[in-house]
Amino acid sequence: MNAAKTMSGAMEGGGAYNRHAGLQAAGGTLALDALRLAAESVVLEMADQPIVIAEYGVSQGRNSQLPMRMAITALRARVGPDRPGFVYHEDLPVNDFGSLFEVLESAPDRYARDDPHVYPCAIGRSFYESVLPPAYVHLRWSAYAAMWLSSVPIPVADHIYVPCMKGASSAAFREQGKEDWQKFLSLRATELRPGGRLVVVLPGADDDGLTGFEPLMNDANDVLTQMADEGAITADERAHMVLASFGRPLRELLTAFEIDGRFCGLSVEHHERLPVPDAVWDAFLHDGGGARLVSRYAAFYRSTFMPSWFLALAQPNDAQRKDKLSDRFEHLLKVRLYARMEPLRSQVQMLVFARDGQLPRDRA
Ligand SMILES: C[S@@+](CC[C@H](N)C(=O)[O-])C[C@H]1O[C@@H](n2cnc3c(N)ncnc32)[C@H](O)[C@@H]1O
Repeated sequence: MNAAKTMSGAMEGGGAYNRHAGLQAAGGTLALDALRLAAESVVLEMADQPIVIAEYGVSQGRNSQLPMRMAITALRARVGPDRPGFVYHEDLPVNDFGSLFEVLESAPDRYARDDPHVYPCAIGRSFYESVLPPAYVHLRWSAYAAMWLSSVPIPVADHIYVPCMKGASSAAFREQGKEDWQKFLSLRATELRPGGRLVVVLPGADDDGLTGFEPLMNDANDVLTQMADEGAITADERAHMVLASFGRPLRELLTAFEIDGRFCGLSVEHHERLPVPDAVWDAFLHDGGGARLVSRYAAFYRSTFMPSWFLALAQPNDAQRKDKLSDRFEHLLKVRLYARMEPLRSQVQMLVFARDGQLPRDRA
């Protein structure tokens, strides 16, 4: 078995991602003002047509309720309470859509709760394909998703995490990242209506490509090596474990815009990189509780990144083995985190793109 050319993994199922993705929620929250401004700027035509919002890489939906509510509120202020609206939530077919539907149906803060004219929908398809018709979407949101690659460019690398890789491994992943990002943007540009807006939130990286996740990823890298030494995973499985996801410096994200500031009809309206508050560390400083601190970091890591290791397993669908490996991984990671006891210094990169051009005549 090897993991080359396989798709990125979805998040840990059974609602685990929803329970442990506080860091992604905090990063997404920092982009809410940008989303509101984008919703206020979107060009809206034809009073009888539904407003279309699309979200890419929804996962299990808990972190989507606040941004979607914010976007709908801003759009409602412009179009009134009666105009129908679709909200399409997209993710890979292997995503835990059951948990998403539960949130959409019964979460107390669900965005459609008080708005009978908003219709949530879900799509199981990669965002590296066309997901919606051309010139269809007014406003799109994608948080902590578009940095996942379409595939793993080389089967074996010298570290699980791209910013910690050296030489040829790093170059292969960065090249794949560049291709994928341009594909993502060009597909989304086609789906956006003229005057539409695309808001993308990504893990941030400084000019040297460092993201703040490096100490945690070094721990995880060492844990996987320890698990291979213990015989919990084979040497071949260990060799193929790599994370097809990493934050990129702004210059890598804006390469395609260098010539005349436009790419596929998109122009950059806003970009900003900010530190993400670490609520887990703040709670520890306030209340103490080292064991709770490392448990929360480890649960975050497990729910977001652990499924990627399973792509390298000889039998990736062996649920019993995966549970056992996850438990062992989490335990060993906690031991290392306890020895280090540091906050997670991550950053968030937000980008807002505006779509230019004319509507097709039959839609204007
Ligand atoms: C870290 S989660 C982000 C979830 C949510 N947007 C948030 O802010 O918490 C990343 C999501 O991107 C999805 N993803 C990764 N690659 C994808 C692809 N090629 N097409 C669609 N979704 C993808 C994963 O399945 C996962 O649900």
